Amino acid sequence: MHATITVANQKGGVAKTTTAVNLAAAFAGAGHRTLLVDVDPQANASVSVIEPDPSRPSMLEALTGEVRFAKIISPTSVEGLSVAEARISLAKLERQLMGDIDAHYRLRDRLQHVREEFDYIVIDTPPTLGLITVNALVASDYLLLPLPPTYYALEGADDLLDTLEQVRRRPNPDLSLLGVVITMADQRTRIARDAIRKIRGHFGKAVFRTLISRNVRLEESPAYKESIFAFAPNSRGAEDYGLLAQEVLARVQANRSS
Ligand SMILES: Nc1ncnc2c1ncn2[C@@H]1O[C@H](COP(=O)(O)OP(=O)(O)OP(=O)(O)O)[C@@H](O)[C@H]1O
Ligand SMILES: [Mg+2]
Repeated sequence: MHATITVANQKGGVAKTTTAVNLAAAFAGAGHRTLLVDVDPQANASVSVIEPDPSRPSMLEALTGEVRFAKIISPTSVEGLSVAEARISLAKLERQLMGDIDAHYRLRDRLQHVREEFDYIVIDTPPTLGLITVNALVASDYLLLPLPPTYYALEGADDLLDTLEQVRRRPNPDLSLLGVVITMADQRTRIARDAIRKIRGHFGKAVFRTLISRNVRLEESPAYKESIFAFAPNSRGAEDYGLLAQEVLARVQANRSS
């Protein structure tokens, strides 16, 4: 079983990284060889799981072909979880690939060389719909869309789904929406309850049953380079992401067998 899942939403601060890191850790914890791929120049996913070392090559060098993709993969403190790390230098990618007709295929082509070594690949993306996010979508089987239940929740979500359609039309017909996950929910507020209803009304069955609640432990764990499961195994955050991971795996498996 192989699946590559991109976590994307062009809005900032919607829990893309938190979701990518903790889902990847949960997959590894369930015994799946998992690779977390960071293609965000902010490098939040990378620094959540490893100590950065500027002497090592990173995503920019791998995507421009200066080094083999395997060279930027490191083990993490989570057994079974590796990371392909990004650094701020990745912000130069767009300029470096300007005029390159394969620019959108870079990540897919590079991942090809290591794909067999992993059961699941989870890609964390920057809050834009530019070349990098398109690279992630071209390289993926699935898009996972995190949406916090705010008044503006649905704004912009359709732009991302338009991009999904465009990518599906040509470079990657195999891409599909795996689901929408409601993140950072504070169900005590009426605005959140209303927004949750609106999101479920708009996306229907695509919305995962599991809802990720606001939980301060999820905010703290990256500073300790730990997933929520190691940092606070009894927290609400660990429970939520554990359940989400089960639902995600079940959906992938159901898609494969249908
Ligand atoms: N369920 C949650 N409860 C509390 N804090 C959370 C939760 N999910 C994420 N956060 C915190 O909210 C902030 C934004 O989350 P995160 O970095 O995952 O979002 P992002 O979509 O990756 O942001 P960006 O667009 O900048 O990449 C972080 O400080 C994170 O720790
Ligand atoms: Mg992020």
